[in-house]
Amino acid sequence: MTILDTFERYPLTFGPTPIEYLPRLTQALGGNVEIYAKREDCNSGLALGGNKLRKLEYIVPDAIASGADTLVSIGGVQSNHTRLVAATAAKIGMKCRLVQESWVPHEDAVYDRVGNILMTRIMGADSRIVDDGFDIGIRQSWEDAMQDVRDNGGIPYGIPAGASQHKYGCLGYVAFADEVRKQEEELGFKFDYIVVCVVTGSTQGGMIVGFKTDGRANRVIGIDASGTVEQTRAQVKDIAQKTAKLIKLGYEITDDDIHINPDYAYPAYGVPSHETNEAIRLGAQTEAMITDPVYEGKSLQGMIDLTRKGFFADGSKVLYVHLGGAPALNGYSYTYRNG
Ligand SMILES: Cc1ncc(COP(=O)(O)O)c(C=O)c1O
Repeated sequence: MTILDTFERYPLTFGPTPIEYLPRLTQALGGNVEIYAKREDCNSGLALGGNKLRKLEYIVPDAIASGADTLVSIGGVQSNHTRLVAATAAKIGMKCRLVQESWVPHEDAVYDRVGNILMTRIMGADSRIVDDGFDIGIRQSWEDAMQDVRDNGGIPYGIPAGASQHKYGCLGYVAFADEVRKQEEELGFKFDYIVVCVVTGSTQGGMIVGFKTDGRANRVIGIDASGTVEQTRAQVKDIAQKTAKLIKLGYEITDDDIHINPDYAYPAYGVPSHETNEAIRLGAQTEAMITDPVYEGKSLQGMIDLTRKGFFADGSKVLYVHLGGAPALNGYSYTYRNG
């Protein structure tokens, strides 16, 4: 029995996700640091899965209890989060209203037709594209969408971008730490570092709270993909502190617990650099591990570069947390037309 057992959870995932050793990527990076992946991208049968489902498992009971009939959320055009809110709505028999903002300055001809938004539409969500640019905060367009649902006789339940600024948004990734600790017992060793992509913050925020109890909060290396790192850092701190209180952790979360590296988000959110693309190719060509140009390609790039630079001491074991996101690749067909 853990403190998290007192919070209701609606299962949307298969259960614990596998941890796999990545021998060819390890060798390609010199062999001195052992690289493992935790496959959150393979966590569910719902619409190809991903990190948002672990968060939504703790939000759905509250949505059902509220008497709502429509989940309302927000993200970019190729948002994984809105795909998985649409999936959750379909699965629990609710309607779904989505605001899809124009977060990415990217002009692939089929960008707003394929991948995440394609699946979102097939699942029956009312998805509306608006012109607003990138921002991880609470948006007027999201408030307006909820009002629109009310005006049309519905009962909305709001889920903010990335499910992060929601009181239960971090719980799934607090539980993730318990899951990793159990797997470490089976493996017979502990990971020295955990590398994870960070944008809206509740994935890393939850992990920070979850790993605080065994002194590893600042071993969770967040690789920023937002390009607005100070806003992300402030949001991670705020939601991690609130979550620590919510679950009566018994520890304060301080700045020392939060490690976010800003060096790999360039040139902008949703736009891959040459180095991001090289990282995506290396992951794909050594391990057939597919990552996307918006999130996981950047955290993979960060992990590869930090390994090459000697940031992780020789003999370290590093857990790369793959959070999903591959569907967005379809919106970048021109970028990868030659591989
Ligand atoms: C595939 C993927 N990776 C990483 C992230 C970042 O996670 P978070 O928003 O919880 O910081 C997201 C969502 O924003 C995502 O969809």
